[in-house]
Amino acid sequence: ELPESHPLVRPGGTASAPLVRALRGDRPDRVPVWFMRQAGRSLPEYRRARDGVPMLDACLDPDLAAELTLQPVRRHGVDAAVLFSDIVIPLRLAGVDVDIVPGRGPVLARPVRTMADVRALPELPTDAFAPVARAAALAVAELGDVPLIGFAGAPFTLAAYLVEGGPSKDHLAARTLMLAEPETWRALVTRMADYSAAFLRAQVLAGASAVQLFDSWAGSLAPEVYRSRVRDASARALAGVADLVDPAGRGVPRIHFGLVCPGLLADLRDAGADAVGVDHRTPLDRAIELLGPDVPVQGNLDPAWLGAPEAPRLAATDRILAAGRKAAGHVFNLGHGVPPQTDPDVLTALVAHVHDWEAER
Ligand code: CP3
Repeated sequence: ELPESHPLVRPGGTASAPLVRALRGDRPDRVPVWFMRQAGRSLPEYRRARDGVPMLDACLDPDLAAELTLQPVRRHGVDAAVLFSDIVIPLRLAGVDVDIVPGRGPVLARPVRTMADVRALPELPTDAFAPVARAAALAVAELGDVPLIGFAGAPFTLAAYLVEGGPSKDHLAARTLMLAEPETWRALVTRMADYSAAFLRAQVLAGASAVQLFDSWAGSLAPEVYRSRVRDASARALAGVADLVDPAGRGVPRIHFGLVCPGLLADLRDAGADAVGVDHRTPLDRAIELLGPDVPVQGNLDPAWLGAPEAPRLAATDRILAAGRKAAGHVFNLGHGVPPQTDPDVLTALVAHVHDWEAER
């Protein structure tokens, strides 16, 4: 059960926020909007606050992480904050030697390739997530009725970094491991699922009103391989918050996002998600056809439009908003993260446009 003081439970909290309502399959007065990677280098106030602080140190500094979480809400008026953190934070907190190299991404000191490597992965210490929980609680205290979204990396995306030792284009080493050494692979993704489940749970207990599981790299998998080697582990991660329900028995809305082929969207839902995040390579109306009208969707403006002229960008936005009417609920977002070179005023105007669109109807 969720504690009585949780924003989803307490009066005047987030249960009637547009984001939570849309993710539960309802139609609030306006379409809620937030952006993946909304906190980041596109904001001058972010660059100032982060100056000289390594990425993972910033995530583990509760005051700084809370401040960076709040910046895009203050500036753009988005309908949700997303905790400033990273998918590799549970690894770092468990004691795995991982860092984020600017311009590149997560890099491991030692790749994980054998059963012995997997067995040597450390357990999370009790209370490992204290700095994350503190950051979330500080942000929630300022957000009032605006929901905080917690997140974690999906087991495949995390395991891809571990096996490759860093970012890779096609994740070939990870994809080979799952076919060549299924037992080692199973042990590895199960461990990743447990890290991510614990990360999600810590964020929810600290006040997050929704969670998103990011399987950013699942699109490199053949659908049948995703189903047989990956999906159960993602379900295990999402199940980590399934017992946290309000007094009416309603759970914390879970969004499952992946850059995937259209054929995998139903699998993202079937892994135990309440809503599916759609990337820009699948038209939203096509995604809704594939998922059926009962599944709330999130997405999916191509981030490339942020650097294009306004009129066609807003026309593309309107097409997505119109398509979203056909789903049980729609949360507007990009199809992937905000590019660092984005003009922040473009995002602010886009939020206003999405909010006005619904008001016109
Ligand atoms: O605003 C938000 O969305 C919340 C914070 C957030 C970050 N990372 C902060 C971050 C979230 C949700 C993530 C998730 C994440 N991290 C994913 C899944 C989402 C996706 O983009 O597909 C992945 C694959 C990672 C791993 C990772 N961390 C990469 C590939 C990078 C980029 C490295 C670079 O410099 O280009 C990071 C670093 C990172 N995570 C930054 C931020 C704001 C940039 C760090 C900086 O500003 O120096």
